[in-house]
Amino acid sequence: MKQWYKNRKSDHFYLKAKKNSLISRAYYKLEEIDRKKKLITKNCSVLDIGCSPGGWSQYVLNKNGSQRVVGIDILPMEHTFDENFEFYNYDLNEFAKIVDIFKSKKYLFDVIISDIAPNTSGNQFSDQTNSYNLSILSVKFIDDFLKKGGHFLVKNFQGEDTEQLYKEIKKFFEKSSYIKPSASDKNSKEIYILGLEKK
Ligand SMILES: C[S@@+](CC[C@H](N)C(=O)[O-])C[C@H]1O[C@@H](n2cnc3c(N)ncnc32)[C@H](O)[C@@H]1O
Repeated sequence: MKQWYKNRKSDHFYLKAKKNSLISRAYYKLEEIDRKKKLITKNCSVLDIGCSPGGWSQYVLNKNGSQRVVGIDILPMEHTFDENFEFYNYDLNEFAKIVDIFKSKKYLFDVIISDIAPNTSGNQFSDQTNSYNLSILSVKFIDDFLKKGGHFLVKNFQGEDTEQLYKEIKKFFEKSSYIKPSASDKNSKEIYILGLEKK
């Protein structure tokens, strides 16, 4: 763990985020994906699953335009944004409860992004299983809450189930692909799956 902190302290993206007073280095992952794939458009509405501490939401809200973000996280948000950000402090496993609220609010998003990740235990198998379960819960928002033509991005710790997750996502979209931005640690199992243009 000590080594992890040491590595992080000299990490290019960590230092850059700190220098630019950004909430988290994760900001640069979404920035790169967006630069390549044009996910976040002017005035779009975004669901940010696993949004805390807020780097991805910050990226979306910082972009030119009047974007709106709804964020969900089991952890509270220390950072506060303006009225274009709405936060739901929920465990994603309370899926039915969240769905009821979202339906009553008539939410429909242009983009769903999910950087959700379990606490890691060091046991690769259980970390990947937990990651798969959270990623698949994120996928369950596509049907009811993503507009036709909308885009979807989700994180997953690569393992035996990743191909299955990819297949689940692929069927909703015109285009799908894996993507690993440069800010994502080369040694980590983290990968992102992208679905573009919901059918
Ligand atoms: C890698 S962080 C997200 C970083 C964020 N994208 C950013 O840019 O700051 C993963 C997040 O997933 C959240 N998370 C993990 N399990 C969760 C669950 N069961 N329900 C809701 N959020 C969860 C964690 O609390 C954590 O904030």
